[in-house]
Amino acid sequence: MRKFIIDTDTASDDVIAIITALREPSIEVLALTVVAGNVGLEQSIQNALTAIKVADTYQPAVYGGMSKPLFRNLFTAADVHGEDGLGNMFLPKSNIPIESEHAMDALIRLIEEHPYEIELITLGPLTNIAMAALKAPETMNKLKSITLMAGTGLGPGNTTETAEFNVYVDAEALSIVLGLDVPKLFVGWDVIEKRAFITEDDLAYLENSDSPIAKFAVRCTKSLHDFCKGLGLNGFELADPTAMICAIWPEVMTNCIEAHATVETKKEENYGQIFLDQESATPNSTTCIDLDGELLKTYLFNTLLMKENK
Ligand code: BDR
Ligand code: CA
Repeated sequence: MRKFIIDTDTASDDVIAIITALREPSIEVLALTVVAGNVGLEQSIQNALTAIKVADTYQPAVYGGMSKPLFRNLFTAADVHGEDGLGNMFLPKSNIPIESEHAMDALIRLIEEHPYEIELITLGPLTNIAMAALKAPETMNKLKSITLMAGTGLGPGNTTETAEFNVYVDAEALSIVLGLDVPKLFVGWDVIEKRAFITEDDLAYLENSDSPIAKFAVRCTKSLHDFCKGLGLNGFELADPTAMICAIWPEVMTNCIEAHATVETKKEENYGQIFLDQESATPNSTTCIDLDGELLKTYLFNTLLMKENK
């Protein structure tokens, strides 16, 4: 059984990604480590617990982590995902318990318990992972892989002209994570914008199904949907589920490049921009630059409609 840890700043699309992993029988999610990002840490934790409840499979341990980026103030996306991160549903507090151990320490302990076995999927700013890398770099190098919903390999950003949200919130954290000697896969905003667009028809299809999970997915992305309508779009990009699906079913990726990735942390005007040097003799990461959007939706819709994939 594959072993995942999911690091998440849990808002609407994080929830769908977490549900996708929790409902895939070939994967055991050992832990959810939570970080501030889309919303503050406490709300992110509550949303992670909501994801577990809605997935209705099993209960991975949930660990709270960093409540702010390494050096900067927290920049949230409440305008995109809703004040509560879940389309302003304002659900009651969950009674699922969370662990007292800090996310950073839980990551280090779990990786030592399962060396070279854990696949880490990051769906938020990299603050928890950077903290663990600073505290125990040798241990973090015993990850099997890291899949990052982060950055924008070859196109414009979604938060500034040049930066994607998860990197923009804590670029210094990504710069530390890039130093880890672990296979890294970037699934960035450019490929998501190009291939992972959920249309109004897709939403109607999910809403009219008899799956409570599909209905929840539509409801919790309502603010995201409204936000994108305001930009003139008839639907929205699903970022975190795309990265999760690439991690679970890599055959959806149709084109990837190897490169040495670096991130801008000094200049304010392009803070968080990623640079990919494809000529480098020392590539430190793989970036997905194209994927099969139809296959991606098949996997996603099967999950949300509570059908088995494969
Ligand atoms: C990323 O930013 C967040 O708003 C989403 O949850 C996703 O992780 C997309 O840029
Ligand atoms: Ca996220």
